[in-house]
Amino acid sequence: MDKIEAETKIELISEKISAPAEAAKAKTPATPAPTPKPAVPAKTAPVAQTKPQPAAKSTAGVEEKGSDAQEIFSEFREHSVAEFFKKNRQMLGFSGKVRSLTTLVHEYVTNNLDACEEAKILPNIYVKIDNVPENDHVRLYVEDNGPGIPKPFIGKAVGQMLSGTKFHRFIQQRGQQGIGASGCTMFAQITTGKPVHIRSGTGDGQVYECDVAVNLKSNMPAVSNMVEYPGKYRGVTIVGEFAEVKYDRSEYAPLEYLKATALANPHAQITVVDPTGERIVFQRAHDEVPDRPVPAQPHPLGVTTDDLINYSHHSKERKLSSFLTSNFARISDAKVDELKTLCPTINFDKMPKELKWEEAEAIVKAFKQVKWIAPSADPLRPIGKAQIEKALKNVLEPEFIAVSERPPKVFRGGVPFMVEVGIAYKGKAGRQTKDGIGLDVKRFANRAPLLFDAGGCATTESVKTIDWNRYGLKDIDNMAVTLYLNLVSVHVPYTSAGKQAISTEEEIIEEFRYAIMEVARDLDRYLSGKIRDEQREARKKAITRYVKQLAADLPYLAGRGITAEIEKKLLYLIEHKYSKIFEKTTRLTADEEKAAKKEREEEAEE
Ligand SMILES: Nc1ncnc2c1ncn2[C@@H]1O[C@H](COP(=O)(O)OP(=O)(O)O)[C@@H](O)[C@H]1O
Ligand SMILES: [Mg+2]
Repeated sequence: MDKIEAETKIELISEKISAPAEAAKAKTPATPAPTPKPAVPAKTAPVAQTKPQPAAKSTAGVEEKGSDAQEIFSEFREHSVAEFFKKNRQMLGFSGKVRSLTTLVHEYVTNNLDACEEAKILPNIYVKIDNVPENDHVRLYVEDNGPGIPKPFIGKAVGQMLSGTKFHRFIQQRGQQGIGASGCTMFAQITTGKPVHIRSGTGDGQVYECDVAVNLKSNMPAVSNMVEYPGKYRGVTIVGEFAEVKYDRSEYAPLEYLKATALANPHAQITVVDPTGERIVFQRAHDEVPDRPVPAQPHPLGVTTDDLINYSHHSKERKLSSFLTSNFARISDAKVDELKTLCPTINFDKMPKELKWEEAEAIVKAFKQVKWIAPSADPLRPIGKAQIEKALKNVLEPEFIAVSERPPKVFRGGVPFMVEVGIAYKGKAGRQTKDGIGLDVKRFANRAPLLFDAGGCATTESVKTIDWNRYGLKDIDNMAVTLYLNLVSVHVPYTSAGKQAISTEEEIIEEFRYAIMEVARDLDRYLSGKIRDEQREARKKAITRYVKQLAADLPYLAGRGITAEIEKKLLYLIEHKYSKIFEKTTRLTADEEKAAKKEREEEAEE
């Protein structure tokens, strides 16, 4: 399908899809109904006669009696995870008007990319942001061409927190917890009272559209206005209306976020239409879908007692020993024997469901004493050097690029990860500040941009450790340089549910540091080469200036030769031989290069 056709199609759908949403508005009152306040419980007679504490005195001097346990516990309630996040929406990234809008776009777009990657589809993502003039709301429309969500799962996918296809799998994807899409639905409800509208098609000839809300009390999906019609559409489209959000073009806004997304996903085509009607297209730079992420088994060194209890209590294995060998990487029968020796009181023939906390604790302790083969890096799906170069070229059009990819390592003893670092110089690289252009650090985790909370992030911490002077880049803060940092892992240790910062694991900081040093060295080499080129050209020019005079004087001094011929020969020498002489006299010898490299590495190791 060509682009114009696709865009026309999208516009039409956009119109069509707004109809049921409007209908829903007319039919159903604002969803959800406001949570009724718990009735004030009747006071129960105090049980204890003695006062546990001295009573506080009110300002009026009258003694105020403290509540007793009965009174306090008459207020005891259970809360759903949805209620928790309603109260703590900042944990999901819903704080500040601009950030909240970027969070919405982020959640929807990461889901689009995850779904396309798993289905091996080249993503075409269309994002339209409109201001609703009547009420200060923003209408967000996000459409993908992914595998779609089957009808029975639509409600749960976007209307129930902690549900999804990713949380329970040890797999490298952008989403992890199952609170992204449903968090957005909750945000629509609590700011506008409206559900979100979903359209889904799995390519089987039927298309489904419905409104979805989260029942905040029960954390169950509330699906309404389901319509079903024949159609070829495959993918998911979500339309939502949100308040307490604002569209602008600052560095934390959706456009910047999508630009960064394009940098880490050169295989995606992303079209944005902003409230002014301007259409911005981040063109696909590379038309190969990344390999499907593959599930990994957890490595014993990355497992906590709580994990072990959780896994074992959900296991269908009959014996603890077979549960261990079949659910974890690197646990063989021989290793189980070692564990048996280390934990002699535990019966490894019992059902995994019966594993007690103390036993799990002992096994996790024993895990630390056994010598393990490092976890396999097979499930890791890096972007790759060539793709990063393409993406940087495509989006930033820089003068120079270097990319460093380091081999896989582990953090917390057993979680495999790797880092990818790129550097781009000049062109559109760098960050526009009040005082001019400056260093721009673009952070990513599994290809998803991290725009916020840079402060406590492992990436920022490792950038801080670099001594740029060592690479002749002491002015880095005022240079047109973009530093591109991507963490690849099956389990990204985010600092919060908002997934905007990577926790400061020592191993991760170290790896980023080494990779940054590598690309800094490459840029240094390029820049010193450039300076040398400029010097060479300047000297060549200076020497050329004397050629005429010399060619005129030489025949006179030597008593032979013709001026015109000498001039020609001298110019030939400068043009063809001088560069080599210059290189010889200015370049470090191979030995000197080696010594300098060794020195730098030693310093780095310190
Ligand atoms: N665009 C989409 N295409 C296909 N499936 C989706 C899409 N968006 C969401 N889903 C499904 O809904 C689930 C919940 O999404 P979300 O709440 O964002 O959590 P997470 O991405 O962390 O799993 C996902 O795991 C996925 O199964
Ligand atoms: Mg998600």
